[in-house]
Amino acid sequence: MILALETSCDDTCAAVVTRDARVLANVISSQEVHDAYGGVVPEIASRHHLELMNLVVDDALARAGATLDDIEAVAVTRGPGLTGALLVGLATAKAIAVARGLPLIPVDHLQGHVAANFLHGDAGPPLEPPFVCLVASGGHSFVARVDDHHSFTVLGRTLDDAAGEALDKGARLLGLPFPGGPHIERVAADGDPAAFAFPLAHGVPGLDMSFAGLKTSLLYTVRDLDAAGGAGAAARTADLAASYQQAVVDQLARRVERALEQTGLDRLAIGGGVAANGPLRERLGTCASVVHVPARALCTDNAAMIGAAALHQPSADPADVPALDVYATDRR
Ligand code: KG4
Ligand code: ZN
Repeated sequence: MILALETSCDDTCAAVVTRDARVLANVISSQEVHDAYGGVVPEIASRHHLELMNLVVDDALARAGATLDDIEAVAVTRGPGLTGALLVGLATAKAIAVARGLPLIPVDHLQGHVAANFLHGDAGPPLEPPFVCLVASGGHSFVARVDDHHSFTVLGRTLDDAAGEALDKGARLLGLPFPGGPHIERVAADGDPAAFAFPLAHGVPGLDMSFAGLKTSLLYTVRDLDAAGGAGAAARTADLAASYQQAVVDQLARRVERALEQTGLDRLAIGGGVAANGPLRERLGTCASVVHVPARALCTDNAAMIGAAALHQPSADPADVPALDVYATDRR
């Protein structure tokens, strides 16, 4: 069994994963304290990770019916993410690894999102490479070619905001709570996706994406509607949310379709928080012969995906463990 920790943003996560990629426990403690600020406050996130980390580890072990005696390795997210938040997970993992004499496996968060597809789960058995993978989260959005279990090649990425960031900022403009993605999805269910035409970034070449113009377009649309006044604000919000969500889904799906065409691959996987979105899951469901759609809890940040990645990554040299550091930005 591998004990995996993930604290790259505002979720304090611990999981227990078996060598054959089965999830025995996947505990996620979301910090709702950030909602009041309309975004994650890094310093508050680190403090809450400190308070929650040990409890979440204990909970994961208990749910797996295990103790630390059963654990053969500790996996942890090293980056990218919020430095202070990452440090809590890494320090915890180091402490457990050094105290118990266990190997420590540092994992890249984005490799983790891809590796969610290497777990047994609702989507069936693990997906074997090669495949195309869309990762869309609050901090990153890219389409990658996955040829093996331990790396991937980015084919196209966002040139500005991530898809989740666009949804979060859009939700804010619509007066919806943070994080915005799930709230936009909820409100959009009662709206007309064709009510407003938002830009689809047609001008962005290749497999790259852009969401900044979309957000600006929503800002101006809301401003114009407010200036015009009139009744039916709730219906209008639903239509705006539905049209905005549609524009995000459309752009992501078009890039995926292009990536499948370009690579000649007919197998698709998805990951990242935005991959929890119902309309996106539905739209991508028919893009390829094999479409692997992990359970929503494996798409949003979680530690099981870090454990999954760790199954295919080397452990750090024990001599290097004490000095091992986090990294904040994507190094690809
Ligand atoms: O992967 P994730 O949990 O954390 C990061 O690594 O960023 O992704 C969080 C992002 C947020 O922007 C959130 O609004 C979005 O995923 N998200 C969704 C949904 N659930 C989470 N976006 C659309 N629909 C959802 N159901
Ligand atoms: Zn993430």
